[in-house]
Amino acid sequence: MSTRSAVVIHDILKSVREALWHHDVTFEEYRAAVGFLRKYAQSAEFEIPLTCDMLFNATISDIEMKHRKGSVSNLEGPYFLEAAPTITDRISTRDEEGDELIIEGQVRDLSGNPIEGAELYIWHSDSQGLYSGFSGDFPIDLYRGKKIIGPTGEYSVRTTMPAPYMIPHDGPSGELLGFMGRHPWRPAHVHFKVRAQGFLEFTTQAYFAGGDWVDSDCVEGVRAPLVHDPEIRGNAKVLKMDFVLDPA
Ligand SMILES: [Fe+2]
Repeated sequence: MSTRSAVVIHDILKSVREALWHHDVTFEEYRAAVGFLRKYAQSAEFEIPLTCDMLFNATISDIEMKHRKGSVSNLEGPYFLEAAPTITDRISTRDEEGDELIIEGQVRDLSGNPIEGAELYIWHSDSQGLYSGFSGDFPIDLYRGKKIIGPTGEYSVRTTMPAPYMIPHDGPSGELLGFMGRHPWRPAHVHFKVRAQGFLEFTTQAYFAGGDWVDSDCVEGVRAPLVHDPEIRGNAKVLKMDFVLDPA
């Protein structure tokens, strides 16, 4: 085992043991906790990554930002697909659903130069909080797309407003949320990933001010700079998203 692993694991165990001491945890409680952990074994492949993402993914994103000077990153979540369709100015949706949302901005470097050729992935839920490619026969060309950025770095894409949704909560991950007195809802959000030659891959989300659950996201992913108050343009909301990428 590497020295780094040893140091990190030692510090985690130290914190756990301190919490056990602090709360006078009993044998009865300890055995109940071990019994609860055994439930994970029954659906480990699904539940362990779900719980880890729920508790720690946003933290790892924050730590990443210690070493970046560009835009604020945020968790990727489980619904990104490489196979998103290439789009020009519109993400395919079921047109009858959801308020219109325009997402526009610029992709640039730390000096303000546009990054031509960057690949901007955008994905979000439908008006029911479902993701294409993950719910029944919901085709993957809806509610997601890959936009190739042109010479000015600027882009504008039309889509529809996403909705809040519950993370899977019928297993131990949901039970854990219940133990903590928390609900399984995420606020409405849009996911982004930007890739460009010579730059660090960048992943983030945008949230909407005043929306349900924005103050109590079950995965604790909301960060103040990522909460937007879109302007209204005609019938549409306009989400301004600039992406400033760090060099690789
Ligand atoms: Fe999501």
